[in-house]
Amino acid sequence: MAATGTGPGSDTGATTRTAAGTAVEAVVERALGRLGPDAKTRLLAGQDAWSLPALPEIGLRSLVMSDGPVGVRGVRWTADDPSIALPSPTALAAAWDPGLAHRAGALLAQEARRKGVHVLLAPTVNLHRSPLGGRHFEAYSEDPYLTGVIGAAYVNGVQSGGVGTTVKHFVANDAETDRFTVDNRVGERALRELYLAPFEAIVAGARPWGVMTAYNTVNGTTMTEHHHLVNEVLRGEWGFDGVNVSDWSAARDTVRALRGGLDVAMPGPRTVYGEALATAVRDGRLTETEVDEAVRRVLRLAARVGVLEGAEPAVTEPPAPIDGEALARELARRSFVLLRNEHDALPLEPGSVALVGAAARDARILGGGSATVFPARVVSPLDGLTAALPEGAVRYAVGADPATELAFADQGFSLRAVCRDARGTVIGTRSAPNGQIQWMGSDLPEGVTPDTLHTVELTGTFTPRESGPHTFGTKGTGAFTLTVAGTTYYDDVQRPAEDGDPFEAFFGSPQPRARVELTAGEPVEVRLAHVFALPDGAPFKAVAFALVHQEPVRDPEELIAEAVEAARAADTAVVVVATTERVESEGYDRKDLRLPGRQDDLVRAVAAANPNTVVVVNAGSPVEMPWREEVAAVLLGWFPGQEGGAALADVLTGAHEPGGRLPTTWGSLADAPVTEVVPTDGALAYREGVFIGYRAWEKENRTPAYPFGHGLGYTAWTYECADVTGTTVRVRVRNSGGRAGREVVQVYLAPVGTAATPERPARQLAGFAVVEAGPGESAEAVVEIPGRAFEVWDEADRRWSFVKGSYEIQAGRSIADRRITATITV
Ligand code: BGC
Repeated sequence: MAATGTGPGSDTGATTRTAAGTAVEAVVERALGRLGPDAKTRLLAGQDAWSLPALPEIGLRSLVMSDGPVGVRGVRWTADDPSIALPSPTALAAAWDPGLAHRAGALLAQEARRKGVHVLLAPTVNLHRSPLGGRHFEAYSEDPYLTGVIGAAYVNGVQSGGVGTTVKHFVANDAETDRFTVDNRVGERALRELYLAPFEAIVAGARPWGVMTAYNTVNGTTMTEHHHLVNEVLRGEWGFDGVNVSDWSAARDTVRALRGGLDVAMPGPRTVYGEALATAVRDGRLTETEVDEAVRRVLRLAARVGVLEGAEPAVTEPPAPIDGEALARELARRSFVLLRNEHDALPLEPGSVALVGAAARDARILGGGSATVFPARVVSPLDGLTAALPEGAVRYAVGADPATELAFADQGFSLRAVCRDARGTVIGTRSAPNGQIQWMGSDLPEGVTPDTLHTVELTGTFTPRESGPHTFGTKGTGAFTLTVAGTTYYDDVQRPAEDGDPFEAFFGSPQPRARVELTAGEPVEVRLAHVFALPDGAPFKAVAFALVHQEPVRDPEELIAEAVEAARAADTAVVVVATTERVESEGYDRKDLRLPGRQDDLVRAVAAANPNTVVVVNAGSPVEMPWREEVAAVLLGWFPGQEGGAALADVLTGAHEPGGRLPTTWGSLADAPVTEVVPTDGALAYREGVFIGYRAWEKENRTPAYPFGHGLGYTAWTYECADVTGTTVRVRVRNSGGRAGREVVQVYLAPVGTAATPERPARQLAGFAVVEAGPGESAEAVVEIPGRAFEVWDEADRRWSFVKGSYEIQAGRSIADRRITATITV
């Protein structure tokens, strides 16, 4: 069986050069010609948190955008408008399969159409520069090539459904600390070879209809004003013809942003475009012709997604329906990385299982921040294994709870939101399934307007599953009154932190406010009232706060002892460990890579009690696993999305092979060569140049816990030969194990002798292909090495330079497990 390797090949993206493209351009020009200066400037500013205004005079409907990237949240940021939740982007990259990424994109287009969304705010293609990056889970890889291939396939998938994308965050938004102000100092070579490279590959391979410019500054200029990188590089050199949307509240200056190539300032209505832009044109600080350029691009996007009358959309036939739950499950099991499997501990032998860990019951399925979506159902590991194994085979114990703080009022709560005006009259209600209110812009309950809204009350009941002292609290800023079982425990104002992130109401930390002794199974009334007040300078109208809760915190030693006892009595112990939303989210970075709480102690104790201990890690980015040599197997399950527990059962029972390979090196923080995320005097120097990820680990001669590309399956592979013709590499592999399997054949390119100067990484990923074969069968992987793999960016001449000479082609199972080599001279 042959499989052709990767390359960002384009399959969507109507361009302005085709006949259809020419017709669309004509409609766009006509529409533009009929707009006055005020309407033009209005079109470039959000009318609310998620959309642009309709302009009925030219047949333009409102264009709606939504996050992204694991699902389509829609214009509501609450659990009462559910979405399919796919595995984290790190997981998507771990499948090393552009075909799968394309299907994920196509599903998201289907979700977007269902929710009336025209542009998906995704994919995130920043790089894993430091493992401490808070949104690491939301990006693909430390490798620009893998990121570009997966990103291009994803964009092609979304756009094949007629929905736009904004590839984000352009560029060098690789960490969260001081994200609005940090000046990332990046050398030109590193910019070109690493950080810009995925964007360049996606523009070439998928012709995205949008990009999103980042909050941060690069080399002294904030990205929403970066004339050089946006106008000269992205548009000029690469030919990007889509829309440039600001990250939310990233645009700061009307004239500089427009001249810097920013088309749309989001969100609205308070932005530096709209009215401010109209004034700048009237005052002569900008010309209408300059505004026209941006309007033209927005109209082109509107035409592509089908909201501009008279223009044929890029996709006219609705694509075939996709089963979202089935794809979420398939993607999850294809992403799971089997890091260790001593004595074939997995798949599980029939027998009893002690399932341990808080995350086995309350599944950790996605990362936090703007990437959050609310699925209609979640299959936890406990649900998945209980359904897959014979009745009575699974015994559950919490063992250790990593949640060091209060979580959304979800489990056991039945809540609704009641809106009142200043006189206390009820003016509207809405369900509030998890105690989290995030109403943005015009998305208020029916009958409610920002002018009439005074108080929002979350009211309902809570039925505890455990007896003991329960903690209740608030998240967000403003005035709160918290009442539990008739007693008011808190009645005060939470002020925003000085110099805090402007989105603190969304991402800030929860505050404990009440400790109440409750009895399992006995419901109590709960009420949290919040006085609605827009913070000063808020860019858009939003009501954002939450009721949060924590179950009785039991003695950790006792919990571990219970788990040990369960493990001792079972044939196998499966421990599910995880990070929490406080660890991996938006708006802040991580401080360390440790698993929160007592989870490390738990694993060690369980492993000591049962040699057949399997650890499942639910984390979107690297965590340290100091016990990894003490357990039989380690399965990295990422944030696996809503069907994670079902996929876990598929893989543990052996119904399917875990298909993932690490898209990023996993090692300890002490060993990691590049970690810094905290700016000094406002600047973060990317001192390491082109050496991040495996490039840096190899340069420093350090051995990580698990190398880039690593991942085991349930069969074995022999690498038989590698042939090179021109720049095409053919690798023959044989399934030498006992069951059918899938192999990710990775091809690294190592410059030899003079080709290794100027200083270059010892080797880099230059291609890969996924092959399948039955036991004893062979398969051929065909990989085309892209020309760029031979090039370096010449900083003196400011151009790509092809480095002639000899290179070793190294094919294998990871960067550290290279099985076969060949030489190529160019
Ligand atoms: C994030 C973007 C996101 C936007 C809208 C920003 O805070 O950085 O990734 O698309 O919010 O939610």
